[in-house]
Amino acid sequence: MKLKFILVFCLLLVFKVGFSQKKPVVDVKKEFAFAAKQYEGMLLSHPDVTKFPQSTKPDGSPDNRVSGWWCSGFFGGSLWYIYEFTGDNKWKNAANIWTKAVEKEKYNKGTHDLGFILYCTFGNGYRLTKNKEYIEPMLTGAKSLATRFNPAYGVIKSWNQFQDCKYPVIIDNMMNLEFLLWAAKNSNDTSLYNIAIKHADNTLKNHFRPDFSSYHLVGYEEGEKVYSKRTVQGANDSSAWARGQGWALYGYTMMYRETKDPKYLRQAEGIAGFIMNHPNLPKDKIPYWDFNAPNIPNEERDASAGAIYASALLELCNYSPENKKKYFSFAEQILKSLSSPEYKAQLGKNNYFILKHSVGHKPAKSEINTPLVYADYYYLEALLRYNRFFTQK
Ligand code: GLY
Repeated sequence: MKLKFILVFCLLLVFKVGFSQKKPVVDVKKEFAFAAKQYEGMLLSHPDVTKFPQSTKPDGSPDNRVSGWWCSGFFGGSLWYIYEFTGDNKWKNAANIWTKAVEKEKYNKGTHDLGFILYCTFGNGYRLTKNKEYIEPMLTGAKSLATRFNPAYGVIKSWNQFQDCKYPVIIDNMMNLEFLLWAAKNSNDTSLYNIAIKHADNTLKNHFRPDFSSYHLVGYEEGEKVYSKRTVQGANDSSAWARGQGWALYGYTMMYRETKDPKYLRQAEGIAGFIMNHPNLPKDKIPYWDFNAPNIPNEERDASAGAIYASALLELCNYSPENKKKYFSFAEQILKSLSSPEYKAQLGKNNYFILKHSVGHKPAKSEINTPLVYADYYYLEALLRYNRFFTQK
């Protein structure tokens, strides 16, 4: 009788404590120590704050970009994440410098990427320091971004033109909505909130196939009508470009967090199912650059897509008790792979980027099997999210 009682008690304890008490498979402290060392080298090799680390050129030299490039916020954002983990002010100072370096983009009305540029930098900076100086650049930037929304089309325009599409929208654009929602909350400007919801709803309606995979680009016409569905960075118009699926997963997970509208959660879970159960997903869970790339298994992997999946799933698992374990363990496997020598650089190598093996734009023969600054950013973000499962009560 006593034995039975002890057994039941132990079972209940295991059930209650659940997986959150298991030991981490990835050593987050070790990975941040590595990231900090690597990024010390990146800072030393980048004294000019108008030259933003992006990748490696085919000849092996560093590839830098200007502040108007969609990736200019990721380096500053990664510095904020290193500050968040280490608490060391030298990272706060460096992050502040690389944040201010993108400030002029708050007036840029020619891009939809202001979320990446301004929210990864000023957004993380404000979250961590509550420095009021960081608010205005975001509110100004959100207004600039909102100029790309035309109510007759019901979506934010990504590019000014793509081939014959005069109002193109790419799935990546979901990533700018968090920035708009932040600005809406912090300015009482409900129009920014309404734009984000309208864009997310039309994207949900028009960008997805019945299996929850996403087209890369949808061209619109007046009256919220779809003109064409195609790809730019994927293998073909009907393929599932790996990073695009990541932007979609991350975007709808975030939309659920911000609105609690169950349709966004259903969408995020559908996308997660598409990615996790795909027959072309390799064992180490780092996808090929496109799920339908023509020469699988002889195709490049995209570590950036893996990092985005991991970060998104580590958030999604908080909203889905029935799939929590599944999402968590999938994300953990990705982080384990990315932290292994297969994907992680050697100290001082890889032009000081943390991760190797991403693909930027294969059809344009650009950034194939290279480091990419945003792979590092989402990897660090995922490590922080992973760490919270073991440190937060
Ligand atoms: N937003 C562009 C990309 O994901 O490559």
